[in-house]
Amino acid sequence: MTAIAFEHVRKEYPDGTVAVADLSLEVREHELLALVGPSGCGKSTTLRMANRLVEPTSGRILLGGEDVTHVDAVALRRRIGYVIQNVGLFPHRTVEQNVATVPRLLGWDRNRTRTRVGELLELMGLEPGRYAKRYPHELSGGERQRVGVARGLATDPPVLLMDEPFGAVDPVGRRRLQAEFRRIHSEIGTTVMLVTHDVDEAVQLADRVAVFSRGGHLEQLDDPVRVLTAPASDAVADLVGRDAATRLLGLGTVERTDLREIALGEDLPTDRATVRVGGSLSEAFSAVAESRSGAVPVLDGDRTVGVLDGAGVLRALRRIVDDGVPERSAAL
Ligand SMILES: Nc1ncnc2c1ncn2[C@@H]1O[C@H](COP(=O)(O)OP(=O)(O)OP(=O)(O)O)[C@@H](O)[C@H]1O
Ligand SMILES: [Mg+2]
Repeated sequence: MTAIAFEHVRKEYPDGTVAVADLSLEVREHELLALVGPSGCGKSTTLRMANRLVEPTSGRILLGGEDVTHVDAVALRRRIGYVIQNVGLFPHRTVEQNVATVPRLLGWDRNRTRTRVGELLELMGLEPGRYAKRYPHELSGGERQRVGVARGLATDPPVLLMDEPFGAVDPVGRRRLQAEFRRIHSEIGTTVMLVTHDVDEAVQLADRVAVFSRGGHLEQLDDPVRVLTAPASDAVADLVGRDAATRLLGLGTVERTDLREIALGEDLPTDRATVRVGGSLSEAFSAVAESRSGAVPVLDGDRTVGVLDGAGVLRALRRIVDDGVPERSAAL
């Protein structure tokens, strides 16, 4: 099912800038679609046209099959969650009041609103007892961003638009937030359109990646592995190519079938084993590369179940290339 469809959409700003020339794009129900591309290529414009913060010059936008190009824009925005970088939290309202913005507009009663706000804060790892009554200036950048995401999710909108939602967070916090958001997304099944210029973020989070070039031109729309291993154009290759191998490793996990048996007399530091079945392939690869023997023992639970070496890493990589990222095929 298609959640959002752009049909020959064009946006020309009053000064003549053609931000998006002629975009046709379908976002599937329940998927997380990431829009990536260089600065100024039309990503935010595209996103903002979906909830009519920006009016398209021509073309049609369908939401769940309904043409929303002419419906009431304010009503439309209440049906679509929207999370933007840095902006948007009301400074003179508490965390609780910020998250409750849309429920209030929709006339939810007090109890339902309070319950929902509590749930969302918990979901975002912000203990309500500590955070509900604080004001935005009493939060860290990352916490503010979580509140922004909670607010976007407040009414369980079928569609969530996110523009650089994790931008203000330091790299470590950012990876954590991303992982958390991926988990949340797989639980709630909201259709998400996420704009980022961080290719790592796009391939880590997305079911599919849309690579844009100037003028809202769609260079490639594909799953993350395909974008990394089979860039459709020079523009895509320029964007993803340099660190493609590292990024690919970042998508993989270590599985039992990647391992070999411990050889007779092989001396491995099993007492210091850190690589686990189901663990990150990029971390496993680093461990292999740093090991003196070129091989590391691998744990499943607390049992050593085999050895990962260079050949095993290649097997794991081959699997991602052939089959894609397993936990993300659910939405497709
Ligand atoms: N209100 C406006 N009036 C005129 N031109 C605009 C307006 N908003 C955006 N633009 C132009 O439209 C083009 C696309 O802008 P947009 O904000 O969609 O880019 P972006 O891909 O989100 O970039 P970034 O990664 O820097 O956020 C740019 O050339 C920009 O200067
Ligand atoms: Mg932008």
